Amino acid sequence: MPHPQSEQNPSDPQTTAHDPASSGYTPAEAWIALEAARVRTAGLTDPVDEADLVRQHSPLMSPLVWDLAHIASQEEIWLLRNVGGRDPLRPEIDDLYDAFRHPRASRPQLPLLGPAEARAYAHEVRGKVLDLLDRAPGDDPLTRDAFAFGMIAQHEQQHDETMLATHQLRAGGPVIDAPDPPAAIDLPPDEVVVPAGTFTMGTSTHPWALDNERPAHEVAVAAFALDTSPVTCGAYMRFIEDGGYDDPRLWTDEGWRHRTDDGMTAPLFWQRDGREWLRRRFGVLEPVPPGEPVVHVSWYEADAFARWAGRRLPTEAEWEKAARHDPETGRSRTYPWGEEPPRAAHANLGQRHLRPAAAGAYPAGSSAYGVRQLLGDVWEWTASDFTGYPGFRAWPYREYSEVFFGPDYKVLRGGSFGTDAVACRGTFRNWDFPQRRQIFAGFRTARDAGPVARGTGAV
Ligand code: AVJ
Ligand code: FE
Repeated sequence: MPHPQSEQNPSDPQTTAHDPASSGYTPAEAWIALEAARVRTAGLTDPVDEADLVRQHSPLMSPLVWDLAHIASQEEIWLLRNVGGRDPLRPEIDDLYDAFRHPRASRPQLPLLGPAEARAYAHEVRGKVLDLLDRAPGDDPLTRDAFAFGMIAQHEQQHDETMLATHQLRAGGPVIDAPDPPAAIDLPPDEVVVPAGTFTMGTSTHPWALDNERPAHEVAVAAFALDTSPVTCGAYMRFIEDGGYDDPRLWTDEGWRHRTDDGMTAPLFWQRDGREWLRRRFGVLEPVPPGEPVVHVSWYEADAFARWAGRRLPTEAEWEKAARHDPETGRSRTYPWGEEPPRAAHANLGQRHLRPAAAGAYPAGSSAYGVRQLLGDVWEWTASDFTGYPGFRAWPYREYSEVFFGPDYKVLRGGSFGTDAVACRGTFRNWDFPQRRQIFAGFRTARDAGPVARGTGAV
């Protein structure tokens, strides 16, 4: 991954324009990102037999073959048609792969391309895109810093994570595998305190940031304390044993309705075996590991757990300040650890493992405040609704973010083990309905900290 610059405080007189020439967000980088996404897409679809590719494994998900052709269709629309000015290759299929025309539940009934046709279409589009890459104008906003190519690489990776969630939902034995993540190296303190103060949220300079991450703006955040690591399965078991699912006082009214309607008694994929908890993970039944971050919980469950613990979910601004703000420089970092692109020692990203790493892992990925595992492992529910930042401008299309703004969706931050680094950074925002559990979502908790006393004589 290329090196962006750290976000500069907009009120900082030293602010200078981002220099795209030094950013590394080039056609060469886009080529690598696109081809890496395609390797992953193949790894998620090649081991699946034809019948399983066209089957719907859950009404929440598309058949895998839909994602495959949708990836290619978006690539064709944005890169070959909009950037390249080419005519549609297969205009008759546009409608089938428009996510807004057909909800996921109805997609298996559509006359979709079969697996072989979908692969051939994706291959044809990609070949033409790679030819176009070096000929795209550098002065158009869509192609400056190879933005549209980076956007499409991120789009493919996002659907790869969605396909990974479909794999987790499918019945039957395992078809994908990966080595286990590293163990926890030490146990950091339970929480860190982030003193009151403003910080720069969002970005105006990251060349591949998507519209909802923009623009950079100053946000005042009161003092708060944040869990150093995500909430573990062991802590979550104590919430269950303590009757957390049976106490309506811990739940919002809407959350309680969902808990009751769905008969929820534990995270998705968990089951009781006598006194033990087991979980199904990519086709394998195994004991729930107490030291691992809990995953597959809804926002409502996370919110109820936090109340049970005498705490609350962090706001999105709190999360981002803990992840990005460097109190020494007053600037916001691209990643919690700084500007270096993510490597194996920093974070559990990119489906290199098929589970979160134990809480306390990745000390090298700590933020300036000493918070760990902010990127990777599990998406983290925040208390915040998904909205546009002050000065938001939908670009290049309203249907990426803007149409989802409002109280219906909660923001998730940080990415999971199934998120690729190209679609993960300190500013990246994800969102979903608060009842959703099939995504790789967990959480950490926070509390108000009040003003922090500083040294003797301080006022
Ligand atoms: C940002 C993950 C919520 O999957 O619905 C994919 C990403 N947008 N195609 C989604 C996306 C268009 C989006 N999320
Ligand atoms: Fe999409």
